[in-house]
Amino acid sequence: MNTHSTESASEVRRDQFRTVRGMEFPWTSRTTYLANASVGPIPARTRSALDRFQDARDEPYRLSDRRLMGILELARATAARLVNAEVEEIGLATNTSYGLNAAAAALPFAPGDIILVPDGEFPANVYPWLMLAQRGVKVELIPATAQGWPDEARIVDRVTDPAVRGLAISLVQFANGYRCDLNLLSDVCRANGVFLVVDAIQGLGAVPLDVRETPVDLLSCGAQKWLLSPWGSGFFYVRRELIEQLTPGFAGWMAFAGTDDFSRLTAYDCTFHPDARRFEMITLPYQDLVGMVESVGLLLELEIDRILQHVRELREPIESRSHAGAFQVVSPTDPTHDSAITCVQTSDAAASYRALREADVVCSFREGNIRLAPHFFNTVDEMDRVAEILAGR
Ligand SMILES: Cc1ncc(COP(=O)(O)O)c(C=O)c1O
Repeated sequence: MNTHSTESASEVRRDQFRTVRGMEFPWTSRTTYLANASVGPIPARTRSALDRFQDARDEPYRLSDRRLMGILELARATAARLVNAEVEEIGLATNTSYGLNAAAAALPFAPGDIILVPDGEFPANVYPWLMLAQRGVKVELIPATAQGWPDEARIVDRVTDPAVRGLAISLVQFANGYRCDLNLLSDVCRANGVFLVVDAIQGLGAVPLDVRETPVDLLSCGAQKWLLSPWGSGFFYVRRELIEQLTPGFAGWMAFAGTDDFSRLTAYDCTFHPDARRFEMITLPYQDLVGMVESVGLLLELEIDRILQHVRELREPIESRSHAGAFQVVSPTDPTHDSAITCVQTSDAAASYRALREADVVCSFREGNIRLAPHFFNTVDEMDRVAEILAGR
């Protein structure tokens, strides 16, 4: 693409995103919302879908079993589109922790096995692995690099140890926005027979991921952040070839073939479903999944690749002020490791954070850094203003 067409593609995208912002998030005219890594806002269209569903929920005779099961099927299909998986590889869950615990409980680890976890991971992706000490499984926390990022070189080196059987890592780190090089990690894990488990909540929605191109074994993602969905919605992915090899560590009553026929529930056929539903824990929050379908549908319409392009453009004002020495960007900015999260350090980060809050900029303060987490609905003008406030400190 030549420079001219790149510029016009960017303008078209910005115009479209600005229009959608006005329709879906009218309140953004009052507040600069950059806390998507904490909680994503609910688009107006999702709110309408939730209201419609709630009307029926108030009078449950309007909700047939068929309709409810249809919601689950649609939610699995929508999540499958997001990561280019087969529907059979997707299970629904209420948060990220669920899928990570399901993975820890089901993967065939034995006493003496080692699971690698980068130091600095969000605790949701640490405790389930530490709990495996009960089974004699050890967690090795891989020390971070000097910048505080996962040390991929060290991980690649450790993966070749035959005692290492698993790697659990976030697609994007919550505290610094580091996106792991999943292509690299996927290759080395496969080459060494190491299970790769990914906590994807800080990436999906703003960072593309295609599990056919980049195989992972299990992935878990709550939808409450970048997927702009209600609390209580989320999903997990289990690689097709692995599903039937894994026995869930717990028994959801609809995980079994014996439950297919609601008129004979006490037949108790213990055969697990041959797909990822074997790991689900029904009853699930239908209303939240209705919301997830709507919100993820919107993101898919806008296209995740384009959202990533947009958030990169949003980073530019922050990066250029940082190059001028006003403050420091402490997140990676190279195209393999960047994400929608940009963390900055100023001479007095707590004071900068307060100044942002006073200027109606909503962002987060994590591990000593200011975390800016813009989504498709944010604008370059907003980021210019944020850069100015940060430079004033
Ligand atoms: C990397 C990461 N994993 C998981 C979570 C949240 O986990 P859950 O969806 O189980 O609440 C967060 C949220 O802050 C996170 O940043």
